[in-house]
Amino acid sequence: MPKFNHRFIAVVVSILAALAVVQANQPTKKILVAHRGASSYAPEHTIAAYKLAIEQRADFVEQDLQITKDGVLVCLHDLTLERTTNVEEVFPDRFKQDVSEDQQPGAQKAKHWYVSDFTLAEIKRLDAGSWKGEQFKGERVPTWQEAVDFVRGKAGLYPETKAPEVYGRRGFDMEKLLMDSLRKNKLERPGADAKTPVVIQSFSDASLRKLRDVHKLKLPLVFLIHSDPQAKWLTETGLKTIKGFADGIGPNKSLIEREPKLVGWAHTAGLTVTPYTFRSGATGRYKDVREEMTQFLFTYGVDALFTDNPDQFPRR
Ligand code: G3P
Ligand code: CA
Repeated sequence: MPKFNHRFIAVVVSILAALAVVQANQPTKKILVAHRGASSYAPEHTIAAYKLAIEQRADFVEQDLQITKDGVLVCLHDLTLERTTNVEEVFPDRFKQDVSEDQQPGAQKAKHWYVSDFTLAEIKRLDAGSWKGEQFKGERVPTWQEAVDFVRGKAGLYPETKAPEVYGRRGFDMEKLLMDSLRKNKLERPGADAKTPVVIQSFSDASLRKLRDVHKLKLPLVFLIHSDPQAKWLTETGLKTIKGFADGIGPNKSLIEREPKLVGWAHTAGLTVTPYTFRSGATGRYKDVREEMTQFLFTYGVDALFTDNPDQFPRR
């Protein structure tokens, strides 16, 4: 056993103590999730938007998931195709006319082109870029697999199971499709690919419970919470319940603006906080989106956020 004098031991101990203090004072890295890609600048959920998000140093790129008629996961925010593609032009007669509950007698019924009424081959014929600008003409709706292939190794993936109950009524199982894909891509375990972490989000607690309890998924799960009445979850008891099926909350930013203490309550319950959505032109009392994100990250203390403007994300 080597002999050390007291002076040597004291020096080593003080160096270790100093290192511990430096470590403890390191600010935790704040996480940037590019919302539908860099969607302020490029058409949401296209490879162009994902590419720009990565160039603007996003930690994660978000994908909203929908399901085609032939059972393929695609990245699109809406259940329907008409807002972000030229479906009305390519398939003028393939719409459904919805009867909404508040429909006035005699009023025109809205026409909708549902993703689940079209095969992937049909959806691939659509232009998903021109609505945002002529320079994006020819962008396509990406499949989830294409998003994985494009983003992998460059950033993390942040898929959202969108309206899984609607797809359930149409005979699809969104959670199983996602799980099968994660397994096929060997991404179903935390840390499976250090360069491509995966976080799964949903407004549906049933969807997250199914992933955790039925599919035994260990990846981080984030429960999205929009404004009232879903805000009922944001009590001490509600947050404890969420901790039973998720690892974080993704509240509408207005809920934190209304009650900033919510961040501390969630942290006490062991949950991360990732509010949505920070975008230029919708910043309320803030001068601009950078100032708004700065307030949420460094004053309110959120861990991460969803933004359409990754280039404006404040870093410290
Ligand atoms: O998923 C976070 C945020 O994107 C939720 O809102 O409607 O843009 O999917 P939405
Ligand atoms: Ca989303």
